[in-house]
Amino acid sequence: MQRSWRIGIIGCGFIASEVHLPVLKQLGNVAIVAACDKDDRRLSHYGSLAGVAESGLYPDHRQMLLAANLDCAIVATPPSVHKEVVADCLNSGLGVLCEKPMAMSGDDALAMLAVASQCQRPLGVICNFLQFPEFVTLKQVMGELGPKAPRLITIRGRGLGMDAVMIQNYLGGRQSGFVSCDHRGGVLRDYGVHAIYVANYLLDAVPSAVTCVVQSAGHPGESVDTSVLCLLEYPTSHAAIDLSWEPRMTTDDRRFQRGSLDIDYDEALVEVSYLDRGDGLHAPALCVTAYDQAGKTVRQIPPASPRERLFASFGATFDRWFESGMHLTGPDDTARVGADAMVVVSACDRSSAARGTVRVEWQSNPDTSGADAPSSPREERAWQP
Ligand SMILES: NC(=O)c1ccc[n+]([C@@H]2O[C@H](COP(=O)([O-])OP(=O)(O)OC[C@H]3O[C@@H](n4cnc5c(N)ncnc54)[C@H](O)[C@@H]3O)[C@@H](O)[C@H]2O)c1
Repeated sequence: MQRSWRIGIIGCGFIASEVHLPVLKQLGNVAIVAACDKDDRRLSHYGSLAGVAESGLYPDHRQMLLAANLDCAIVATPPSVHKEVVADCLNSGLGVLCEKPMAMSGDDALAMLAVASQCQRPLGVICNFLQFPEFVTLKQVMGELGPKAPRLITIRGRGLGMDAVMIQNYLGGRQSGFVSCDHRGGVLRDYGVHAIYVANYLLDAVPSAVTCVVQSAGHPGESVDTSVLCLLEYPTSHAAIDLSWEPRMTTDDRRFQRGSLDIDYDEALVEVSYLDRGDGLHAPALCVTAYDQAGKTVRQIPPASPRERLFASFGATFDRWFESGMHLTGPDDTARVGADAMVVVSACDRSSAARGTVRVEWQSNPDTSGADAPSSPREERAWQP
């Protein structure tokens, strides 16, 4: 008989209640038996949506860990507290699936991997964008173009995830919690990690050097980045990531310029066409087109609404976690993908502060230290959906 995992939710805000919950309710092998949020209103709202008894609702995750008999916690708090909350859960013997970004820095993410290894408890990070169907298609198309690596992957997006009201509020001086540093960590940590996952996945490598500029259109006292432009240097390729919360108005009646993903080879080009909206990689992909000397090849992506696409990506993420991740005795490959991205994010911070190119220091992860540690951490990190 299939095992039913007893899970507790930590952080009952937008993603937990609007997206995770309806997806988790579809799974046959989980029971949400506890929830925790420091905000009473959100906690009781989540409790009624999820059908968690009053006795299963906690204002503090440590109380929940002591009192509820759990197998797993899903951590959906703001990233600034992921490290502490995740370590407490692992140390209490739980498996943990943590929302992205894994932490606020590469060092914190590597420390989280080390805790999971020491406790021998499973740790995963939600990398749901890697479940979007266009990336599997892109990998196939890249394979068909031959073994030569692309010259450049370019990922762009404007006005990401913000509607017009949020942007007007923010730029007009009325702070929107959506972009505050505590909440999401700025565009580099909130959205940039998705783009870094995608670039690392498509190139099956991690960058050795980074040149990055982060900028803030924030208000006094807010240091949150609202734009990021970075160039990642891979062994035989580059990736250019150009992301912003801020809209780029267009001259026609579209509000924002849409996002894009292009892959340039010396003698070929591959591009993803997205539904025409300003959400960058969030938007459903319509097709992947490859242009080379043989002509043009179009691969259609099965049609999906933005909601269907997002929910399917979380469905695949949760299925994978509860069917295989939870059986591990340490971090799974998604945790390594999440930590790799945070190491790159920290290099972006250093590059932006230094106004120049910085090398990315790749060490064997703490969990792989010892005589058998692989000399190349990548050997153990290739990610397959
Ligand atoms: N994978 C995705 O596509 C995706 C999409 C949106 C958000 N996220 C991630 O999910 C996380 C949460 O984002 P959100 O939009 O739901 O934010 P949110 O602010 O709506 O929700 C966060 C909740 O955590 C609670 N909280 C804060 N500190 C806490 C603590 N110490 N203990 C318990 N509860 C605490 C807050 O009260 C709030 O209810 C972020 O890391 C974000 O990047 C991921």
